[in-house]
Amino acid sequence: MSKDQFIIVAIDGGAASGKSSTSRGLRDRFCLMRVDTGSFYRSITLKLLEAGVEAKSNAKLNQALEKMELKTEIESGDAMISIDGWTPDESIRSERINHSVSDYAALPEVRGRLLQYQRNQKEVAQENGYSGLIMEGRDIGSVIFPDANVKLFLDASPEARALRRAKEGIVDSMEKRDRIDSTRKTAPLKRPEGSIIIDSSEMSLEEVIDEAAKYIEAALNS
Ligand code: CDP
Ligand code: CDP
Repeated sequence: MSKDQFIIVAIDGGAASGKSSTSRGLRDRFCLMRVDTGSFYRSITLKLLEAGVEAKSNAKLNQALEKMELKTEIESGDAMISIDGWTPDESIRSERINHSVSDYAALPEVRGRLLQYQRNQKEVAQENGYSGLIMEGRDIGSVIFPDANVKLFLDASPEARALRRAKEGIVDSMEKRDRIDSTRKTAPLKRPEGSIIIDSSEMSLEEVIDEAAKYIEAALNS
């Protein structure tokens, strides 16, 4: 790709596979705009729970989703969702949200509401002068940007992932989330076609970032 071309990096993987920390490191190294799509699903889940909308396909869900005004604010290189003027805080990482988010994210209506919004982040990044976008989630390389310039799939053993969460002091229904995320009908978590697997079980964060950076550099120089 030529130097002035916009680069898209897609990162997918299960819970605690290292998507957020790796994408932060790559954002800073390559001056990319970073999009954590999990924070979008978490934010929508919080708003639906607050409105008393259950994780079921029905008219109440459709109305609530339709009514939501979604915008983007950029904070330190990260695209933050704004829903009716509200921007997420640490409350989206609570045990309550960890417990429910995959049930809401499995609903085709919820995924449909976020599909174009996620793709529009490319224009948001371009309008704000970024030379590329790094987006992480579960279906980025498979559904949102199947033509991304670099597609990474992060993996780590269940033991390594559980240890990471324990170190963070976070209570998380990781196994339950991974099970629901991998088996849902719409956009399940899977290794995207043409993606590069990085198993970080035995790797430090710096090593993962260095390894991923090689693929981005190769794409930029191709
Ligand atoms: O975003 P995701 O849930 O995939 O993972 P993360 O939040 O980036 O990583 C979960 C925890 O694992 C964080 O505390 C990271 O610092 C840590 N981590 C690690 O110890 N070694 C790695 N190679 C990657 C992440
Ligand atoms: O940080 P961690 O990997 O634990 O989770 P996250 O990236 O914040 O995502 C939270 C949840 O949102 C996931 O367990 C999925 O149910 C959902 N999600 C999704 O379905 N599709 C995405 N592209 C991103 C997240």
